[in-house]
Amino acid sequence: MNDILTHRENGVTTVTFNRLDKKNSITSDMYAAMADAIEAAATDEHTRVLVFQGHESIFSAGNDIADFLDKPPAAQDAPVFRFLRGLAGFPKPVVAAVCGPAVGIGTTLLFHCDLVYAGDNAAFSMPFVNLGLCPEAASSLLTTQMMGYHRAAEALLLGEPFMAEAALEVGLVNRVVPPSEANRVAQQVAAKLAAKPMSSLVETKRLMKHGQSAVVLAQMNTEAASFGRMLREPAAREAFGAFMAKRKPDFSQL
Ligand code: COA
Repeated sequence: MNDILTHRENGVTTVTFNRLDKKNSITSDMYAAMADAIEAAATDEHTRVLVFQGHESIFSAGNDIADFLDKPPAAQDAPVFRFLRGLAGFPKPVVAAVCGPAVGIGTTLLFHCDLVYAGDNAAFSMPFVNLGLCPEAASSLLTTQMMGYHRAAEALLLGEPFMAEAALEVGLVNRVVPPSEANRVAQQVAAKLAAKPMSSLVETKRLMKHGQSAVVLAQMNTEAASFGRMLREPAAREAFGAFMAKRKPDFSQL
């Protein structure tokens, strides 16, 4: 079964995380599939809107930790970075539906979506520090911009989850709905967008991001270099080893 499903209907391309047994954690093959889907949708004249969705119980547990240990993203052309650059630079509207846990990149990818609908069970977290890592997807910049410094510090330094209502309050999500409705609401909004003039949507999005795009890309590249290095260092090794062995990590010597 495909871990990433891609479906196009009435001008809307929908990318669905479909790896429930592993909580929709994302392998490098899945990043590559999503990067390909994004690149194709960007130039496909029949795609007017892109939607990301998961299951009503889980959006994504973030990077697949075992896969990350096996195939750490060493270079800028690694699938994860190709996916992030494609999403950040995607010219058309992107809508997301998020329910349940959205861990790591499950949250940070939302900074690059235009409209986000959350189930009331959504739990957002960026536990990079708890994993011996640092933020990615320009989240060190965008979290601070969106939430203000102190709330960003809570999210990024403590790495604790925050719930749908808190995400609504800081502007990370547009609306909170029952989990069983989230994907449908996202599709309704996507259909509304798909009926609007494409040239105006694209130009408006370009103008909204103008001035910020280069800064975001630069931050993403800086973070990627640190993230790649830290992935091979003792703190991440300890955190990932602990996750695999289902024990608490011991950072007392690190
Ligand atoms: N990478 C690899 N496997 C993962 C995973 C991840 N990020 N997240 C969950 N899984 C696997 C578990 O190992 C488990 O596999 P198993 O059935 O073979 O033992 C399965 O998915 C179910 O996970 P479980 O933890 O039992 O589910 P849960 O409902 O109790 O908790 C989460 C869900 C998402 C809160 C929890 O799995 C979690 O915190 N995952 C890690 C998130 C993380 O640190 N991501 C990295 C961000 S960079």
